[in-house]
Amino acid sequence: METLKDYFTKAQKEKWAVPHFNFSTLEQLNAIVEAAHSVKGPVLVGTSENESKFVGMQQAVALVKSYREQGIAVFLNADHFRSVELAKEAIDAGYDSVNIDLSKESFEKNLVGTKEVVKYAKKKKVQVEGELGYLVTDSSKIYSEEVAIPEESYTKVPEAVRFVKETGVDRFSPAIGTIHGIAANTPRLRLNLAEQLAEALNVSLVLHGGSGVSDDDMKRVIASGFNNIHISTELRIAYGEKLRSTLKNMPEEVAPYKYLKAPREAVGDLVRDKMKLFSASNVL
Ligand code: G3H
Ligand code: ZN
Repeated sequence: METLKDYFTKAQKEKWAVPHFNFSTLEQLNAIVEAAHSVKGPVLVGTSENESKFVGMQQAVALVKSYREQGIAVFLNADHFRSVELAKEAIDAGYDSVNIDLSKESFEKNLVGTKEVVKYAKKKKVQVEGELGYLVTDSSKIYSEEVAIPEESYTKVPEAVRFVKETGVDRFSPAIGTIHGIAANTPRLRLNLAEQLAEALNVSLVLHGGSGVSDDDMKRVIASGFNNIHISTELRIAYGEKLRSTLKNMPEEVAPYKYLKAPREAVGDLVRDKMKLFSASNVL
């Protein structure tokens, strides 16, 4: 099996995207891994700070390792870790990748903190993703109102160039018009900004807030050079809706492996669809 770095290099060259899906339960992880394996693509699974607390960092590492030992191309990312200390903790626990997210700090603070994480991670061959420009929403949820994106939140190309060069990150996550979660208005991606960033930077580019982005925009952003796409809310919705309807339909059922079967399948179906959309199938 190739390394995570190899898969990103391959994706960058061949213009497809490694998917990133968040999980917080074993059946979600099982569904993601099985689906990715069935379409023959690599997958990055992630736990946010709260998901890490819920699952346990050591436990998430052990679970992902157990699939890899079976020859499955799955890797673990610490997603949106907002402090240097916590990012180091994830590295020590054995995560394959950390997303140090200091995007809501000042440029200088972000630069210094990200650089420190890169230095620490390099010794252990852990990949680092840094963020510059910020997504206005942090929560993965459905917003009943429209969400406006302030001009100042978008990534500026010259700053991105300096940030990537000085920090030495493996992956870079800019803000190009997505939000975390799904708003009443459809996100309008700045595809020209995506192209300018891809042109100016020679690192893997990451799109956060993939839920709610149209299939067309997703294809365009991948064609422009983004090769890592994060999806969380859509997966949570698929899981939660199926779980609620299943429990309603089988109120007497007490065996979790019975009532969690359909939610697990719903997650797997969505993962397969997204991987095909990202051209991340049949790439192993
Ligand atoms: O880090 C996770 C993501 O960026 C997912 O965003 O919940 O909008 O799909 P999403
Ligand atoms: Zn994100």
